[in-house]
Amino acid sequence: MTTGRRQIATPLPPLEIDRLAERAQGCANVRELQALLEQLPPSLLALERFARFDAGSASGFALFEGSVQIVVCGWLPGARSEIHDHGGALCALRVLSGHATDIRYELDRDGLPTEVSRDVYLPGSVIAYREADIHSIGNEGAASEALLTLDICAPASSPRSYSSGAGGAS
Ligand SMILES: [Fe+2]
Repeated sequence: MTTGRRQIATPLPPLEIDRLAERAQGCANVRELQALLEQLPPSLLALERFARFDAGSASGFALFEGSVQIVVCGWLPGARSEIHDHGGALCALRVLSGHATDIRYELDRDGLPTEVSRDVYLPGSVIAYREADIHSIGNEGAASEALLTLDICAPASSPRSYSSGAGGAS
């Protein structure tokens, strides 16, 4: 007789992930990466089974890690990233479901991030970040639904965080 314990298998990434990673690796600029995310095959639009959620912050599930990084990120209402850049990588994300609020920053003379724009993106939107862009993204406002995004960084990113209070990048 079994104890009743159940093992939940981790779903396998869709086969098209390898092809997507290969094409992302060949992107020369963020516009090409953006176009890649705008033309995803249907199998890469239905990724709910990979979604992970943590209160307060994003929770990611890596579909591909190597020369590029492809991650499904789940955001509960109220979850928001730190203010960060992408360490010189090209990055873009597609909103799979929910609404994403993206805030862009520039550094002031003291090296502190100052908000310069705030935009809300609907499902199907693709948001692109150039190498030097600084931003924070989250699921906020009147949203009561979870946000799910598919993020690609090429090459794999080592983001730097920025304090909004003091100290600049960390
Ligand atoms: Fe980012």
